[in-house]
Amino acid sequence: MKNKTVRAMTLDALFLALLIVSSFISIDVGYCKFTLQLLTVFLIANFLSLADGLIVIGLYIVMGLIGIPVFAGFGGGIAYAASPTFGFVYGFIFVILLNHLFSDVLLKRMRNELWKSLIGSIVSLIALYAVGFVHGYLILTLVKGKSDFTLGAAFGLFLAPYIPFDIGKLVIASFISSRYVSVLLPSRRVHFNEIDSTNTYLKENYRIYKNLSFVDASYQSKGKGRLGRKWEASKDEALMFSVLIKDKKLLQNAPILSLVAGSAVFKYLKQIGLKNVSIKWPNDIYVNGKKICGILLESVSHEKIDAVIIGIGLNVNQETFPEGFYRTPTSIRLETGSTMDLRDIKKDLYKTIKEEIVSFKEGTSDCLKVINEHNYLKDEKCFCTYKGEKKEIKVLRIDDEGDLVGIIDGDEKKIISDEITFE
Ligand code: BTN
Repeated sequence: MKNKTVRAMTLDALFLALLIVSSFISIDVGYCKFTLQLLTVFLIANFLSLADGLIVIGLYIVMGLIGIPVFAGFGGGIAYAASPTFGFVYGFIFVILLNHLFSDVLLKRMRNELWKSLIGSIVSLIALYAVGFVHGYLILTLVKGKSDFTLGAAFGLFLAPYIPFDIGKLVIASFISSRYVSVLLPSRRVHFNEIDSTNTYLKENYRIYKNLSFVDASYQSKGKGRLGRKWEASKDEALMFSVLIKDKKLLQNAPILSLVAGSAVFKYLKQIGLKNVSIKWPNDIYVNGKKICGILLESVSHEKIDAVIIGIGLNVNQETFPEGFYRTPTSIRLETGSTMDLRDIKKDLYKTIKEEIVSFKEGTSDCLKVINEHNYLKDEKCFCTYKGEKKEIKVLRIDDEGDLVGIIDGDEKKIISDEITFE
């Protein structure tokens, strides 16, 4: 069985167990049964996929109805269906459905995970109340013969008392989910048709994604390049994506990560048959002397670095570029003469990048060797701005720490990427 399936099944079993345990302690007050079930159901809605959420709730209901005492206060058996509170149990299905409708469809683009979860949960709580109330009212009036119940009295007796507690559960579950959902999530691949910038998106949402998640977009309205420049490409002409790094060991070597990504892009371009590919330290890839790919490394820090986002823009199907570049860039199409399917490139390039990052973590990466062997600037005399001053530099090599070693004003200098820009 695939790892993914085993993982999902284990999580489902854990949440099912939690749901059962949270049903055990039930405080009965009048027609109400106060339990922690709803807290677990909100967590299930937020942490599990729609399918897994429905499986867990479905199993729970079936187990209870066939006689296993999993309902509130060890209740169970087919007769439980005629209990006034059973509507809240099958109403959990609507909680799962509506939460997913909001988070996966209607509010998909919403940035703030806490609000997203709160809104979905509030709507689903209203639906749960509607189902629970109608069921309870019908059972009490039609089955239990309490036909003198008015709707208002029924509301006061078996709905209103729940409201403050359920709002509390909803807020707690949304808060927990918005902060910790990434702990249980697998690394994800997310695609947007349009977004401001995949880097900005991950900077704002890194908490809900796991290490090595990839986010790409067909179009970016505010794509960012290095040094505050814009990075622009028409829809579906370039591959624009960001990779999230949260692994502690990788974060300790944050500056080298752009070289690791650069070396992966280099290997991929060679693999698809491009010639004369080179790496311009610290983060550009060139083909036949023209830039084909740029990398923008950004970090999120509070007291320490919490996450690094590696943004990669690879020119794929462009035939022309706007004016204003110091040297006109190139694209895979211009180099090979053929149009490429972005989805194929994405699949292969993600794999290469992932492998390169994993091997860097394991200490087996050859990225510094690759960069030194294919260093665009090697032995070149070029002009740069070094610590704010225009200088001529002769680039010698990239050292073991990923810094550039070059000769400036007759002296060999070790330079970090923030200190220098090339003309
Ligand atoms: C550069 O050459 O200056 C770096 C360009 C990096 C562009 C990519 S596209 C995906 C990601 N999102 C952004 O806004 N920027 C990076």
